Amino acid sequence: MDFGTSTIFVASQRGVVPIGETFAWMPSLVGYADDGAILVGEQALYVDDAQLVRSIKRCITENRAFVQLDTPTGTKDVRADDLMVEMLRETVRRASAKGVDMTANPPTLGCPAMWDGPQRRRLHELARRAGLDVTLANLVDEPVAAGIAWLSNQKGPKAPVRVLVFDMGGGTLDIAVLEVQGQGKQDVSVLAALGVAEAGNALDRVVAEDLEYRLAASGIDVRMLERPKRARQRLQHAAPDVKISLSSVAEVDVKLPRREFGVASIPYSREQLNEVFAAQMDRAEQYVETALRIAALPNATEVEDIVSVSIDELAAQVDVVVLSGGMSQIPYVTERLAQLFPPSTRIELAHASPEFAVATGLALASGYARINKYRPAFDIVLEWDKGRQQRTVYEAYTPLLEMRQLATGDGELRLIRTGRQLKLPEGGTGRLRVVSHSGEASQAKLDGSTLDGFAVELSYDDFEFSLYPDGRIHLIDGKGEYEGQLQ
Ligand SMILES: Nc1ncnc2c1ncn2[C@@H]1O[C@H](COP(=O)(O)OP(=O)(O)OP(=O)(O)O)[C@@H](O)[C@H]1O
Ligand SMILES: [Mg+2]
Repeated sequence: MDFGTSTIFVASQRGVVPIGETFAWMPSLVGYADDGAILVGEQALYVDDAQLVRSIKRCITENRAFVQLDTPTGTKDVRADDLMVEMLRETVRRASAKGVDMTANPPTLGCPAMWDGPQRRRLHELARRAGLDVTLANLVDEPVAAGIAWLSNQKGPKAPVRVLVFDMGGGTLDIAVLEVQGQGKQDVSVLAALGVAEAGNALDRVVAEDLEYRLAASGIDVRMLERPKRARQRLQHAAPDVKISLSSVAEVDVKLPRREFGVASIPYSREQLNEVFAAQMDRAEQYVETALRIAALPNATEVEDIVSVSIDELAAQVDVVVLSGGMSQIPYVTERLAQLFPPSTRIELAHASPEFAVATGLALASGYARINKYRPAFDIVLEWDKGRQQRTVYEAYTPLLEMRQLATGDGELRLIRTGRQLKLPEGGTGRLRVVSHSGEASQAKLDGSTLDGFAVELSYDDFEFSLYPDGRIHLIDGKGEYEGQLQ
């Protein structure tokens, strides 16, 4: 299940399961009817804007618990989680009507690469409330799923391939750098996965503003119209359609109600769209660059090493750029990426319909071994006093390097946790525990023994646990110093 910001898709191993009333997908809309009923998907299309939430998934991305909505009993703060559970339940019902029973076969769920542990646990909890028997291991990064969709269409065993997935959807731009190798059951190593909450919705907003600006240039000042607020709403509603049409034609006539605007239409061209999209694509390229630097981490020993490599050198290491998400259909996206990468890097669609890619890949994900090197999918916990005391030394999905360090080049190339930070007691014996969220047992070793269960001499002043991006582990405790490896 691909629970997207604008669309919800379900796929089985045979392909996309059409759960929408009009299209294959269900729109990610939820709102209140005048009688207080919660409306989901297409049913919510025609409720008033104040009674509607368009991009509820953003509440997870932005860590918001409530959304403000007009309800029959007045304006209320409604729990976003309750609304999302309703959407998930409806998705489960519709899939079941198409012969796919997700309550019997728990689905793989996509999540943005940028989500941290608590955000992933929130979606997991919502899915459980909707009757799905999922674990955290059922969550797969969306760009990784898109990469798998692409991979499933490649023939034959190959040498290791480095793939950059560019997944631009409605709410987030997700980028991942994958290394794919192996025959039969292929290994997909995630070298980098990051994202930003700036995608289709953001472009819609600037297109709406630009339409207002173009109207002004032709002598129509929206502020002076009889109902400026409503006129702006019209432009906001028109913007996504304008954007989508311009992926296939060079110019559109944006139809407007003449009574309200004084004109029946205004022309808008692909060039104009590219112009307002350019700054967003500049930022997107910055993130591509950051992802490529993160992917270079395992071969570096100091932050300085990866900060100083030129972007051309990093780009040249990518064999294929894989495009996913509705926004990747905009020709300008391909144009810009083709300028960033050398001609030897291929640019391909993850799926013939790029907005289907994530769901298609999620349905196939169990056939691929996945290792996330940049954000390991397990907690490392230090316990003592028969488990009554514990500290999280590493929390699953925490990036091993802070983004800030890539910009400044400071700091060391490792994640460090000290006895002071963890407020450890001075003395006593503890034990390290590895709690896997991926469903696969940890293979990590320390000083020749398994990391899970490793005995540690507690020390407030001396304890220091370091995790390096190449998987190296270094531990100092009250007794000595140990070296190890994640896998
Ligand atoms: N042909 C097209 N050309 C341009 N944009 C398009 C096209 N088709 C869809 N879009 C845009 O793509 C976005 C939706 O893409 P997608 O369905 O991949 O997003 P999502 O999965 O719902 O969101 P996210 O992954 O960010 O949570 C919307 O902004 C939509 O307007
Ligand atoms: Mg998506």
